[in-house]
Amino acid sequence: MQSWFSFIPESASTVSGDVDALYFYISGVTVFFTLLIAALIVYFVIRYRRRNPFEIPRPIEGSTKLETLWSAVPFLIAMTIFVWGAKVYFMQYRPAQNAIEIYVVGKQWMWKVQHATGQREINEIHVPVNRKVKLIMTTEDAIHDLFVPAFRVKTDVVPGKYTTEWFEATKPGRYHFFCAEYCGMNHSGMRGFVVVMEPTEYENWLSGNVGQSSPAAAGRTMFESLGCVSCHGANAEGGRGPALIGNFGSKVVLNNGQSVTSDEGYLRESILNPQAKIVTGFGPIMPSFQGQVTEEQLLQLVAYIKSLSTAKPETATAKPPPPSAQPSATPKASPRGSPNGK
Ligand code: CUA
Repeated sequence: MQSWFSFIPESASTVSGDVDALYFYISGVTVFFTLLIAALIVYFVIRYRRRNPFEIPRPIEGSTKLETLWSAVPFLIAMTIFVWGAKVYFMQYRPAQNAIEIYVVGKQWMWKVQHATGQREINEIHVPVNRKVKLIMTTEDAIHDLFVPAFRVKTDVVPGKYTTEWFEATKPGRYHFFCAEYCGMNHSGMRGFVVVMEPTEYENWLSGNVGQSSPAAAGRTMFESLGCVSCHGANAEGGRGPALIGNFGSKVVLNNGQSVTSDEGYLRESILNPQAKIVTGFGPIMPSFQGQVTEEQLLQLVAYIKSLSTAKPETATAKPPPPSAQPSATPKASPRGSPNGK
């Protein structure tokens, strides 16, 4: 499993080749100019050395041509690095569409993983080869950072918000991942493996590890036990809070006239700090659930609310929620008739 050049890790994702090419280009430019400048210094020291103690050097006027040249050439080289670097950066960090979504919670000092189909694991992430995988990540304590060297992806995991990281593995195998942000005593032990499997093997793994409810199903149970349902009935009964069917991914109009797109971060904020963004037509009556739900439970609640939005293709990989939670084909209007009740 060694790469041809042992200073860099194996290359096993769709972006790793591009990252390496850029890296070698920058290294090549750096080495070329280092050698060029060092050689010129040696040459000039010898060529223009003082030959006798009374020698007076010829005055130099400067050369516009030369100065233009040594400004323009480095500028053009720097711009190739900038343009190429930006291209690779956007390829790597623009969130993937139609990816398998996996929830990851960092904690001193382990990684807790939940699959949309219900499997849970610690310090291992099983994924199929040649499929886009998107990690939706948060942490219970310090800042961590999930780094998979073989995939050339690395993203901070930050308290109080969700960050995402995606990759598409190109060959089966076990690839080390690490925490890449110093997070306390056992930071160096906070690591594990991404296990990349052939599709059939992955299906077997999925079917052999059921028994735990999916995040969406667990979220539904929490939704009911926390009493959310009395205001936000899944079918918009209740009426004291916005209907949640079709909410995820939609534009939500707030009482200050602004609108936001409902994403994981918005749902999370609305559960922990409901007064931050109040949907127009509703009062500030929702209590905060700060301290009542763990990060994993929050992800489950978010997964449940996402599952109520059938339009999102990503949720196709999730098990459908129990029949009673299945949204009807067309979302009913809120009983109070709020036009922006979503
Ligand atoms: Cu977690 Cu370092």
